[in-house]
Amino acid sequence: MTKKTFFITTPIYYVDDVPHIGHAYTTIAADVLARYHRLLGEEVFFLTGTDEHGLRVSQGAKAQDLTPREFTEKLAPQFVTIWNSLNLSYNFFIRTTDPHHEKIVQEFLTKLYKRGFIYEGVYEGPYCVGCEKFVTEGELKNGVCSLHPHLLPTRIKEKNYFFKLSAFQKQLITFFEKKEAIFPQERRNEILGKLKKEKLKDLSISRAGVTWGIPVPWDKKQTIYVWVDALLNYYSATQFVRGKKKFWPADLHLIGKDILWFHTVIWYALLLAADLPLPKKVFAHGFFTIEGQKMSKSLGNVIAPQKLIQQFGVDETRYLLLSEFPFGADGDISLDRFRQRYNAELANGLGNLVSRVAKLCETSGFDFEDTPTSHFFSKPFQSALSKYRIDEALSDIWVDIHALDAAIDKAKPWKLSGKELFKNLLGVISVIRHIAFDLQPFMPETAEKIQKQFAGPKIKANPPLFPRI
Ligand code: MSP
Repeated sequence: MTKKTFFITTPIYYVDDVPHIGHAYTTIAADVLARYHRLLGEEVFFLTGTDEHGLRVSQGAKAQDLTPREFTEKLAPQFVTIWNSLNLSYNFFIRTTDPHHEKIVQEFLTKLYKRGFIYEGVYEGPYCVGCEKFVTEGELKNGVCSLHPHLLPTRIKEKNYFFKLSAFQKQLITFFEKKEAIFPQERRNEILGKLKKEKLKDLSISRAGVTWGIPVPWDKKQTIYVWVDALLNYYSATQFVRGKKKFWPADLHLIGKDILWFHTVIWYALLLAADLPLPKKVFAHGFFTIEGQKMSKSLGNVIAPQKLIQQFGVDETRYLLLSEFPFGADGDISLDRFRQRYNAELANGLGNLVSRVAKLCETSGFDFEDTPTSHFFSKPFQSALSKYRIDEALSDIWVDIHALDAAIDKAKPWKLSGKELFKNLLGVISVIRHIAFDLQPFMPETAEKIQKQFAGPKIKANPPLFPRI
């Protein structure tokens, strides 16, 4: 029997930025879902990578006196190192400067050109390098883009190739109305609302003034617009990475809400034009602020994942980031709150429960042959994850932790002995093992430690999982 497949992607991050906890947030969430689907027995392709062409990257290189090639070679490995240190189980790391990718992007564009979806024209308007897009006058506030207020948009007038995005308006509306493809629901309403209200304009998909990019196959003086190049990574990886063809179309594109338009309207229209199967789902999560402020270089409040790892540990960082606010909504993060929650939920919560039970088992002196093992995720946990409520799945585990603590307080096993004690402890062990099972996608190392510790026959107390800080 062939296994069910699951293809999940993260945005590919601009290589000129240092990896921060915003990028980590999406990638850890994708890792949780990838691990979860593997544990369900599915064959998973988890793709992440870096977005390496365009003005933003070439300007970044210039600022460091490097060629774009040297610059990207220097920076892409930083993402790989940090993703590895967060125990992210991606199956492939794509870089858009990979010649295999570049070839597929060119073939894709040629196909659209031959099908009559690309024509030549002149573009004139402001361009935001931070967003890597032409911005409409309506998107500017006091002359600057609200996402990159420190960057003055440049006015560009040049010959470009255009993609007939406008030709797909009706088809897109029908598709997104019929299919539940955009999550959460509010985001779907937002996209449909905009699609119904505004007439789509054709999209400039090449740049005459940008040399750091993939050349337009039939006009080498132009390069392919970086967003078209970037979106195509999801498709190209399935075509050139060995054995991955069967994974197209993607089951889930996980992204932040900032890039939803690109991942729905533009991406789906490009695929429709090429007559390729469409991705099944796009989930846009919210943005978090740091103690009420936008996280930005200019404010100097950007947090590197390494900082959290040093302070709390790897599994702990994964836990703290994903449990702070509902997945899908906007939220806020503070290191103080992380410290408090580390102590309350990890040190005193899970850690204390595990020590307490292990000590009871050890002092009982029993042999626990064939300790009860869990092979299934609990129902509420599964239902939370099926709605992509990653935070809710986590809090469901903590409900079990608190319930077990309360049950132990009530049963007072330290007052029991003989058969009664043995029976009670077996019950407690089975719940602990169940908690460890559910914990696997989130805190893989912790889950494994608990599973080993409670494997029997002898169960012993270990040093605390989460020393108090
Ligand atoms: N290169 C494009 C994406 C191309 S995908 C075909 C890009 N890169 S980015 O480096 O700017 O990354 C944007 C993504 O980073 C967001 O969509 C989100 O996943 C993540 N985040 C960045 N800052 C974040 C927060 N403050 N909060 C939550 N997620 C954040 O856009």
